[in-house]
Amino acid sequence: MKVFLDSAHLGEIEAAVERRCVAGVTTNPTFLLEEAGRQPLAHLRRIVALLRPLGLPLSVQVMTSTPAEMVGQAEAIRDELDYDRVVVKVPCGWDELSAVAELARRGIAVNGTACMSATQALMASAAGARYVTLFYGKMSDAGIDAGAVVEEVARALGGAACELVVASIRRTYDVHECLRRGAHVVTVAFRLLPGLCEHPKTAEAVRAFAESFVPLDVAAPAIRSDYQPTAARRSSSSATAGT
Ligand code: E4P
Repeated sequence: MKVFLDSAHLGEIEAAVERRCVAGVTTNPTFLLEEAGRQPLAHLRRIVALLRPLGLPLSVQVMTSTPAEMVGQAEAIRDELDYDRVVVKVPCGWDELSAVAELARRGIAVNGTACMSATQALMASAAGARYVTLFYGKMSDAGIDAGAVVEEVARALGGAACELVVASIRRTYDVHECLRRGAHVVTVAFRLLPGLCEHPKTAEAVRAFAESFVPLDVAAPAIRSDYQPTAARRSSSSATAGT
C-alpha cells in the first residue's frame, strides 16, 4: 500500500517529498482555495515543480458540476501544468460518469472521487478511472462500515489497472485498517505523517542506545555535516492540513 499526501501546502509537500515517504499528492478545491486563492494553476505549477524530479502523481479536482465543463477543465489542467503525472479528480455520479468515460477516451488519467459506496467506486472504475477514491471518515460519519467497503472494493478491483485510494483519513488507526483491508493507496493529511514513521517504543529503544554513544574513532577531530532537513511544521500543520 502506498501513502499519498493530501495537501496543497508547499512546505508540507516539500518536507514529505524530501523524505520520499509519499508516492503522490492529492489536492482538492478547499486546499487550493486556502493556499492559492484565485490563482490555483499558478500554485499547482509550484507543486508540480516539487513533484517532477521524482515523477510523483498529482491529483487535481475539477471545479465545476457540469460534465461538459469538467472535460474542458481537465484538458486545461493537463495542458497548463504540462506534467504527464497529473490525474484529474471527478466526483462520482451518474452525470459525472460521462465525463470520466470521455476523459479516459481522451487519454487523461481520472480519479473518480468522493465515493461513499462500493458500487460508486466500481462504476467509476468500469468507466475508465485510473483511481477511485473512497472517503473513509465521511462514510464512518454516516454510520457505514468503511473498512468493510474498502475491503469489498479492493477485492472487486483485483488485478485491474484501477487503484483504490482511501481519503478522509482522520486517524493513524484508519491507515492500519486500510492496509489490512487491501487498499492500494491512502492519502493522508500532513499532520498524520510523523505518526506513521514513529513509535514510543522506538524512541525508548533509541534513548537506551544513546547511553552507549561514543565518538567515531576516525582520524578527523569531528564529523560534521551541512545537511539541514526541511522544517516539517509539525506543530502548526494540523490547523491547515485539513481534514
Ligand atoms: C479529499 O479530498 C479529502 O481527503 C477529504 O475531503 C477530506 O475529508 P474529511 O474532511 O472528511 O477529512
